Amino acid sequence: MFFEQVKAKSIRWLEDNRGLVIVLFCLPASFLFDLFIQFRIWFHRKLAVSSSHEQRVQTIQNHVAEWKKLPVSERKPLCTARPNWLSLSTTFFDKKNCHQVPIDLHDVLSLDENKLTVTVEPNVTVREICKYLIPKGYTLAVTLEIGDATLGGLAFGVGMTTYSHKVGLYQETIVEYEVVTADGSVIKVTDTNEHSNLFYCLPWSHGTLGFLVGLTLRIIKVKPYVHMQYIPCRSQEEYCSKIMELSGATNKDAKVADYLEVTIYNKDEAVIMVGNFADGKISGAKVNDVCSFYKPWFYKHVESFLRKGGEEYIPLESYLLRHNRAIFWVLESMIPFGNHPVFRSLLGWLCPPKPAFLKFTTTQAVREMTFAKQVFQDIVMPLDTLKEQVNTAIKLFDTFPLLVYPCRIYEHKGGAPQGQLRAPPKPRLVPGTNYSMFNDLGVYGTPGPVERREPYNPTYAMRAMEKFTRDVGGYSFLYADIFMNEEEFNQMFDMTLYNQVREKYQCKGAFPTLYDKVKPEIDVVSIGETYAVKKNE
Ligand SMILES: Cc1cc2nc3c(=O)[nH]c(=O)nc-3n(C[C@H](O)[C@H](O)[C@H](O)COP(=O)(O)OP(=O)(O)OC[C@H]3O[C@@H](n4cnc5c(N)ncnc54)[C@H](O)[C@@H]3O)c2cc1C
Ligand SMILES: *[C@@H]1O[C@H](CO)[C@@H](O)[C@H](O)[C@H]1NC(C)=O
Ligand SMILES: *[C@@H]1O[C@H](CO)[C@@H](O)[C@H](O)[C@H]1NC(C)=O
Repeated sequence: MFFEQVKAKSIRWLEDNRGLVIVLFCLPASFLFDLFIQFRIWFHRKLAVSSSHEQRVQTIQNHVAEWKKLPVSERKPLCTARPNWLSLSTTFFDKKNCHQVPIDLHDVLSLDENKLTVTVEPNVTVREICKYLIPKGYTLAVTLEIGDATLGGLAFGVGMTTYSHKVGLYQETIVEYEVVTADGSVIKVTDTNEHSNLFYCLPWSHGTLGFLVGLTLRIIKVKPYVHMQYIPCRSQEEYCSKIMELSGATNKDAKVADYLEVTIYNKDEAVIMVGNFADGKISGAKVNDVCSFYKPWFYKHVESFLRKGGEEYIPLESYLLRHNRAIFWVLESMIPFGNHPVFRSLLGWLCPPKPAFLKFTTTQAVREMTFAKQVFQDIVMPLDTLKEQVNTAIKLFDTFPLLVYPCRIYEHKGGAPQGQLRAPPKPRLVPGTNYSMFNDLGVYGTPGPVERREPYNPTYAMRAMEKFTRDVGGYSFLYADIFMNEEEFNQMFDMTLYNQVREKYQCKGAFPTLYDKVKPEIDVVSIGETYAVKKNE
């Protein structure tokens, strides 16, 4: 009894003072941890320079060939040896029951300035490709704001950015995949060769169809700065209709900005960010390097434009990684005083704590607590339902800000099965085009009821959000926890072509199925119920 009370009290204290705990222990440890990881990668690269891409791929093929020699009964499903904690996904897929294949592929292979493509190995990160491309005057058409995301992970998961209203999801910018299949052969996969069905199923496949060993991506020409315009909106009607217009959802010939994003601060107030490439001759006074460690967190900076709009120039690389330091706004729930000027100038350079470190140190109890007391979801839904999306998210989670990136979803095969993402329904297409305008709704943070210590049932809230998503014809990003059963999953995603492809490339027994790969490793439904009961007591 006594110990129970002490335990409850200490947990409460730790929760109340989590910022302090994180600053004193996690930030310095995360810093050292990152140094160690950087060293390991550097060391692996030193070893790798002496080999060619073909030799490295051959090593992976050999691993698969050895696995194939095992008796069928001893073959465990294949997966990459990438430790779980290195991946940005919030789930912890259990690799112990898998046959792990090391994929040490970290190189940029070639740049084609005529065709505007770059060929890379899958383990190249967003930060590395920015450092490589931007000085040459290019960037990937679609990236992610988090420097640690890998180009391979984005290809087999999903990627979306503020350029996606012009070109769609990351997968639309992939020209060719190089894949090692379950029988150990290496194939080049494009949308026009004999592997075109596989081409459409690799995105959102999470490594359940083969190993990715190379990737050719479309790049775009850039200028050194992004001219940003911050447009404050003071009603829901206003931001919903403005974003339809600005993204080109109402008129295919409308001139749209290069980058487009909305941050919603409460039901009625939002700031729309309109960014356009700009040339280098800009007086210093107007330039704001938002990534400097002593600067306010980006979303706080944007919030200051709610009172009165404004404009400024941001160096391109800082623009692309603008959300990195505050991990969008996740850092606030870890370090509540992290945006204080004193903290920023003294310790801002230590932020963000590495997602890899946070995952590495996550125990079962912490994992259960964070999923029950935090929400972390990116959901793709039709942009013309934005009002209902926001109101549903408020009703279920009541946490702000909310992130909105408009994004084209393309129809590829005249409405026939085109991979896990269904083609948008014909009436939803932007008139005269082959795409529909969707958006990512990002909900990250501590739900209002948890903050206020009121009853909150994560299972109920998440399942209700998923039902809403299915009803409007949307999709959940699969890096986050899902609460659907397999039947509901198959309603959200179209598994027709995927199942054919699994058959053709002999994936059965070699790779887990998509649902098994991405479903949470803990029983989220029953844990959610337990937490909800505790709250009510
Ligand atoms: C804080 C945060 C913010 C985010 N914000 C956004 C956002 O704004 N927009 C957005 O689009 N996404 C966002 N995401 C999600 C992100 O896109 C995914 O996590 C994405 O999958 C990239 O992560 P990763 O490089 O760690 O990939 P991983 O998680 O390592 O890989 C993704 C999947 O592909 C498999 N895989 C990876 N490499 C290979 C390979 N070589 N062969 C076979 N299988 C492989 C993995 O097993 C895994 O199932 C966010 C995630 C976090 C944590
Ligand atoms: C990526 O690099 C890490 C660190 O070197 C390595 O452990 C991992 O297996 C690699 N993963 C992939 C998918 O390339
Ligand atoms: C969509 O239409 C455009 C213009 O007609 C064309 O260039 C593009 O290839 C089409 N995309 C798809 C996915 O069909």
